[in-house]
Amino acid sequence: MSADIGPAIELRGAGKTFTTPSGGPHTAVRGLDLTIGQGEFVAVVGPTGCGKSTTLTLVSGLEEPTEGEVLVFGRPVRGVGDKVGFVFQQDATFPWRTVLSNVMAGPRFRGVPKTEARQKARAWLERVGLGAFEDRYPHQLSGGQRKRVALAATFVNDPEILLMDEPFSALDVQTRALMSDELLELWGGTRASVVFVTHDLEESIALADKVVVMTAGPATVKRVYDIDLPRPRKVEEVRLEPRFVEIYREIWESLGEEVRITRERGAADVA
Ligand SMILES: Nc1ncnc2c1ncn2[C@@H]1O[C@H](COP(=O)(O)OP(=O)(O)OP(=O)(O)O)[C@@H](O)[C@H]1O
Ligand SMILES: [Mg+2]
Repeated sequence: MSADIGPAIELRGAGKTFTTPSGGPHTAVRGLDLTIGQGEFVAVVGPTGCGKSTTLTLVSGLEEPTEGEVLVFGRPVRGVGDKVGFVFQQDATFPWRTVLSNVMAGPRFRGVPKTEARQKARAWLERVGLGAFEDRYPHQLSGGQRKRVALAATFVNDPEILLMDEPFSALDVQTRALMSDELLELWGGTRASVVFVTHDLEESIALADKVVVMTAGPATVKRVYDIDLPRPRKVEEVRLEPRFVEIYREIWESLGEEVRITRERGAADVA
């Protein structure tokens, strides 16, 4: 972890306007101000298509902002840094590599000796429940299994900043709870800064220190909610607490409004 105690991530008036295939501009994110402290777990919720994934690509350095600034550990983001781990919304495994080789790829790339990389990769495959699958290729796995390979391949690099885009959406409820608890434990141990995008409001509250509600697109921050539930948390247990339900109701209202706006717009587009 970086020695100074400044924020891990800062977006200052950040915006992203894409050029569409027809040549016109499309603003996905605009005027986005958000500060994420070192060791903080921030969940981001917002209507589909509002600009959540785009926001993560700006933080990761995969895309540059077209307005404003994006800083990681106080420095403007220039390209993809090695402190950042990104679990993508879509599958991101190397199809020509086995499961084990996929998970070893990051450490090997950073120069970790083969035996050590293999050992670390195997430990992570065990944790995500794929210990018996290390010789398979991604196309021989289910969608949820591929997702778990991607999780292992990210966590194995001990990232200081963890960007996660709906990482558990392909998993069944039980596995999802297991992976969530695993994530909280991992995060508790490393104190990495996490930005976790999800459509599941319960999941966002159960996991995070703060829940950021985005507006209908172009995305900007509507409101940030502090989640004052005690830690350590077990996601299945924390959901049952009265305070959880209270917070849930409050955010649900705020989020619902933006989802309605997005839907009405969609309906207008079709008309
Ligand atoms: N490369 C691109 N070129 C043009 N438009 C884009 C590009 N990438 C994203 N967009 C548009 O920007 C908007 C935001 O997309 P983004 O993927 O960030 O949404 P999202 O909030 O992650 O949605 P979801 O919840 O469905 O994953 C969408 O309208 C999308 O069509
Ligand atoms: Mg997305």
